[in-house]
Amino acid sequence: MEAELLEQIFASYEGTRNELVPILQEVQENLGYLPEEVMQDIARFVGVPESHVYSVASFYAQFRTMPLGKKRVAVCRGTACHIRGAPQILHEIEETIHLKEGETSEDLEYTLETVACIGCCALAPCIRVNKDVAGEMTPEKAKKLFYGDGNDNGGDRAE
Ligand code: FES
Repeated sequence: MEAELLEQIFASYEGTRNELVPILQEVQENLGYLPEEVMQDIARFVGVPESHVYSVASFYAQFRTMPLGKKRVAVCRGTACHIRGAPQILHEIEETIHLKEGETSEDLEYTLETVACIGCCALAPCIRVNKDVAGEMTPEKAKKLFYGDGNDNGGDRAE
């Protein structure tokens, strides 16, 4: 499947080193991250050493070389959320799922990230779990959400 996808992506490029970043972006858009063997194929295609592809992928924060967790937990760190306690919520979630911001759990269950604004400032502070936004969050609610509590999508939906 990856080979097929790469073939499709490569078909719209000429295979020059200038195309490296757009190709990485397109591959990541499709796969969610940049697997090592895929980076090797990309290196061959654009004619650069594999080490160059790895260094570009690790230099830019937009690229991920590890898969994302099944549940992508995003804590909003926008102004409205920050003022209303986002740092404490982030801290509580970090403690509860044993991850730091930017990390993915080994079992690929969770990825914890922060985002600039989820777009629901009236409900601040907010978190998002995959596509579900949970507003008016508190550290206590966050703790409960990630301990299960019969709600395995990790969030109350905001309307
Ligand atoms: S600042 Fe958090 S939703 Fe806008």
